[in-house]
Amino acid sequence: MLNTISQILQKETLTRTDFITLLSVRSAEATQLVLDKAYQVKTETVGRKVYLRGLIELTNICAKNCFYCGIRAANIKVERYSLSVEEVLQAADFAWKNGFGSLVIQTGEQQSRAFADMIEDLLIMIHDTTNHELSVTLSCGEQELSVYERWRKAGAGRFLLRIETSNRDLYHKIHPNDNFHSFESRIKALNDLRIAGFQVGTGVMIGLPEQSIGDLADDLIFFKTMDIDMIGMGPFIEHADTPLYAKNHMLWPAHERFRMSLLMLALARITMPDINIASSTALETLDPLGRQKGLLAGANVVMPNLTPVSSRKKYQLYNNKPHLDKDAALSAASLQKIIHDIGEVIGFNEAGSSLHFKNRVGSV
Ligand code: 5AD
Ligand code: SF4
Repeated sequence: MLNTISQILQKETLTRTDFITLLSVRSAEATQLVLDKAYQVKTETVGRKVYLRGLIELTNICAKNCFYCGIRAANIKVERYSLSVEEVLQAADFAWKNGFGSLVIQTGEQQSRAFADMIEDLLIMIHDTTNHELSVTLSCGEQELSVYERWRKAGAGRFLLRIETSNRDLYHKIHPNDNFHSFESRIKALNDLRIAGFQVGTGVMIGLPEQSIGDLADDLIFFKTMDIDMIGMGPFIEHADTPLYAKNHMLWPAHERFRMSLLMLALARITMPDINIASSTALETLDPLGRQKGLLAGANVVMPNLTPVSSRKKYQLYNNKPHLDKDAALSAASLQKIIHDIGEVIGFNEAGSSLHFKNRVGSV
């Protein structure tokens, strides 16, 4: 078996069958072979450098009702918040002064004119107050192309919009069956982001109830076909106050969801050597060393949380999210230690744009 795995890993291009074989490995040795290959590809392509993205969870107000997410609109247990402009500018200033190089602004999904204006104004203020030295990634859901274009113009360079799963049927099992949660509009939004000129990131959840190994192989093919620049993906983690919790008995054990997530990161790196891949917070939720292990499986981006601690516990997409009580300085310091411990360096003051995007468009 180990021989077969090594042979597949030497191939120039991997087929769906290869992905399925590699995602089906069970032993620690075979898993490690795949992860080691990914680390070698990462070292040779993007190097042993980690880019920091300061994460600002701007608001937990969300109009959607995804069945898996703790801040879905119907969860009345959540106290809703929006950070003030001062809080956002303070977080941006922290990122800038600490050499993070970039920010991610994440929100629930809202599609109003007021929301579009608010993000646009914030982008302009962030750039003005940080001497245009911070690059900004948005993760603010599906919007009209015209809204994406305005935000791109206001200085956001990258956008993350996870497809969640590339299997249309599964997508509709984890979302309400209405026009507001359609798979087709998700794909359209990803295409619109490209048209608007963003570096585009997507991703999936790994270990969803009723998700198969074939689905995960298809997710990798989807990333490749969409020619995406960045990936943010991680394990599915249950949240007790969501409808998907009813299918909890169908889940793979947490350690298996974790191992499969590492394999997915590794295979993404092997097939798309020059993209940016985040080591997600969800990985750390399932394993205290999750972030390091993600980096060692091929990820090259981490997102220290800069949301003020008082709001952080209100942004719980899933149970047991880590670092709820650590302030920005502490969580940044613990991340730096983690990165140094595995012998990698931080790309301080660097935008850390996706090499794939640079290769695709010729510059940034
Ligand atoms: N487990 C893991 N990831 C989740 N997300 C939302 N809910 C969960 C959960 N229960 C992820 C989705 C979404 C991103 C903001 O958070 O992939 O796109
Ligand atoms: Fe809203 Fe995003 Fe959660 Fe869906 S996953 S309910 S869009 S915050």
